[in-house]
Amino acid sequence: MTDKKSLENPFPGLRPFQSDEEHLFFGRENQTLELLQILRDNRFVGVIGTSGSGKSSLVRCGLLSELYGGAFLDAGTDWEVAVMNPGGGPFNQLSKALVNADIYDAEEDDIHLKLNATLRRSRLGLVEAIRQANLPEGTNFLLVVDQFEEIFRYSETGEEEGEAADDFIAMILEAAKQTNVPVYVIITMRSDYIGDCSKFEGLPEEINDGEYLIPRLTREEYKSVIEGPIKVGGGKLAPRLLQRLLNDIGTEADQLPCLQHALMRTWDAWADREGAEELDLEDYRAIGGMGKALSIHADEIFGTFKKESTKDTATKMFRAITEKGDDNRGIRRPLRLQQLADITNKSIDEVKRVIEPYRQPGVTFIMPPTSRELEPNTVIDISHESLMRVWQRLRNWVEEEAQSARVYRRLVDTSSLWKKGEAGLYHDPDLQIAQSWRDQYEPNNSWADLYGG
Ligand SMILES: Nc1ncnc2c1ncn2[C@@H]1O[C@H](COP(=O)(O)OP(=O)(O)O)[C@@H](O)[C@H]1O
Ligand SMILES: [Mg+2]
Repeated sequence: MTDKKSLENPFPGLRPFQSDEEHLFFGRENQTLELLQILRDNRFVGVIGTSGSGKSSLVRCGLLSELYGGAFLDAGTDWEVAVMNPGGGPFNQLSKALVNADIYDAEEDDIHLKLNATLRRSRLGLVEAIRQANLPEGTNFLLVVDQFEEIFRYSETGEEEGEAADDFIAMILEAAKQTNVPVYVIITMRSDYIGDCSKFEGLPEEINDGEYLIPRLTREEYKSVIEGPIKVGGGKLAPRLLQRLLNDIGTEADQLPCLQHALMRTWDAWADREGAEELDLEDYRAIGGMGKALSIHADEIFGTFKKESTKDTATKMFRAITEKGDDNRGIRRPLRLQQLADITNKSIDEVKRVIEPYRQPGVTFIMPPTSRELEPNTVIDISHESLMRVWQRLRNWVEEEAQSARVYRRLVDTSSLWKKGEAGLYHDPDLQIAQSWRDQYEPNNSWADLYGG
């Protein structure tokens, strides 16, 4: 028997599949073809589905690997693809994505400044940037804006950022509309944000024209999602575990991320189990089963932080990179490492100490993966927002953070009213509440910036 430990775990865990993981990506063959068909007919496509329904994976892995493989229009059509998430500033993220895709040269002086200036110049900014890149004749450009919903946050905060959201959306719509330069745009968006699109002129119309609502996997498709990667990875699956997994999937939200995480953990448990031939029920039980595996695993890592100050850093860090609006929708808030150090009042090294164990292979709760060194301006993000719902401890933190933000916003409102003579100073109990809030959460300016300064 081959040494199991030398086999690579074929399950990515909470993060989406990437374009070089096509050999591990199962269950979406039909959907990929349907999506390609829509992209043939529309230059702007919205891929819509609930959180965790597999949008990012379908686009980043299923669709992109087909495109790179030449499955579009006439054979020989080349594609340049830039993939971005708008959180962290849409224009900055786009300019980074263009450089990452090698459409622009990372070595060129001030490349990000120049690109940002080109992009922001007018509605035709993206078209201009692609034109200036001088792509070879016959090359199409595709921009993937994953987690598009992150952009809506900007329209709610400061004026300048609100404008950036407006301008960015106008720019990508324009790019898909003009026909001089072959630009295609795909956005992925959570269905609970679909109503927010109407805040932006022209966006609902474009989504109506090119929409792909992601279907739920069938039982057969789930079967191949489980069996396929195990086979490719060189493992063996006990039929009774397959049955058990299929029965445990259920119909609740987060089935796909929970299944994916449980499979990654079960594989590791099997690899560690002396003499085990097949991934079996006992491996699955050892990790806590589908319902609990994720919460247990995330807690286990938190439990390795022995010092109070490290726990405090982790608490503040997770509270900063997650957000819950008044409407109860949990959303990620990707932030740069430097911002996290400022918000938590800790050194970069201290923040890294809590991030590292959460982004190791076999864990992947936080992005980027360990293949990328953490720099002060690296954007730190949770791998999937299901972590905010399924990890009980984080759920509580998110709740506390939302409450803390409410106390703060009320304080800001009252103080500006007071300046205009329209409100009095706080007295008890409000004063007491505000003071104990300050003592408990130690808010600083960097934290306050998250909530409009
Ligand atoms: N076809 C698939 N097979 C197995 N796991 C999948 C598949 N598609 C997505 N997943 C997993 O489900 C979770 C959510 O996927 P993701 O693509 O991020 O969804 P969304 O973008 O809709 O939130 C991730 O853990 C991902 O690895
Ligand atoms: Mg996604």
